Amino acid sequence: MSIPSKNRVLIANDISSLGFSTLAEISSQSLLAEVDLLRSVASLKLTQDKKGSMGQFLTPASVAELMAGMFDRLDLPEISLLDAGAGIGSLLAAFVTKVCQHQEHISTLRVVDYEIDPFLIRYLHQTLKLCEKECQRLNISFNYEIRETDFIEDTVKQLEIGLLNSTNPGEFTHAILNPPYLKINAHSQVCKLLRSIGLETSNLYTGFMAATAQLLKPKGEFVAIIPRSFCNGPYFRDFRKMFLQMMALQQIHLFESREETFSDDDVLQETVIVRATKQQQKSNNNSSGIA
Ligand SMILES: C[S@@+](CC[C@H](N)C(=O)[O-])C[C@H]1O[C@@H](n2cnc3c(N)ncnc32)[C@H](O)[C@@H]1O
Repeated sequence: MSIPSKNRVLIANDISSLGFSTLAEISSQSLLAEVDLLRSVASLKLTQDKKGSMGQFLTPASVAELMAGMFDRLDLPEISLLDAGAGIGSLLAAFVTKVCQHQEHISTLRVVDYEIDPFLIRYLHQTLKLCEKECQRLNISFNYEIRETDFIEDTVKQLEIGLLNSTNPGEFTHAILNPPYLKINAHSQVCKLLRSIGLETSNLYTGFMAATAQLLKPKGEFVAIIPRSFCNGPYFRDFRKMFLQMMALQQIHLFESREETFSDDDVLQETVIVRATKQQQKSNNNSSGIA
């Protein structure tokens, strides 16, 4: 099989920068290049129909790196990362790469991934093994868990049985996310589940965002690439209210062209990257100015 030209450029860039990088940087860049090859192979094998019906547009390394670079607090001794809808693990690999570049501060890194597609899970295992190897090399204790289950169902269950509440907030210090973009029917099971936690919404990506926010610790950081449709209009008002009661928006990254982000897949959806922080206790006033 031939290597897609984009990845050849990525690898060529790694080699051409040899003289200027530290060993740790070179090694972590090669981790990203290897994972991006896995993404290209998996993406070529997925049919366009399946990508559309399961929202499987996988994030290229350049965008994943940009997202991982947006986190503010990577200098913690213990980091726990949530990647919901992890695909082959492109986002978590970019995150691990960033953390490895701050290795003097960190001793323990834990990653929890949710993914429902067994085909992608096979690649996800390989990505996590590569991350484990990189962390071992730097004496960072790395452990991971793949939860092969529906993320919304699992989170709603945790909320229902009281595993998550004000005295027992979420377990994650960081979350990185490219959620599935899928319209949801008002009578579907997922709609009922989201309604049961107070969210009325028409697209699965906002359900993923709200559920992720619930699972973050206070001050936990969230970086997500999402359609910009949630920013205005009545359909997402309920979501904006719920999300902004839990989270403070810190940054929104806009792309110059809507074609460039997922160019391999011809996705024309206008996307943004959002960085937000979990609030300890936020008043019900909507101070963000978004209504
Ligand atoms: C847009 S893709 C992004 C994948 C990966 N995060 C990335 O950035 O490359 C969304 C992923 O969510 C997975 N997914 C869809 N519905 C899910 C669900 N209910 N629970 C867990 N994962 C789900 C899909 O199989 C897909 O891999």
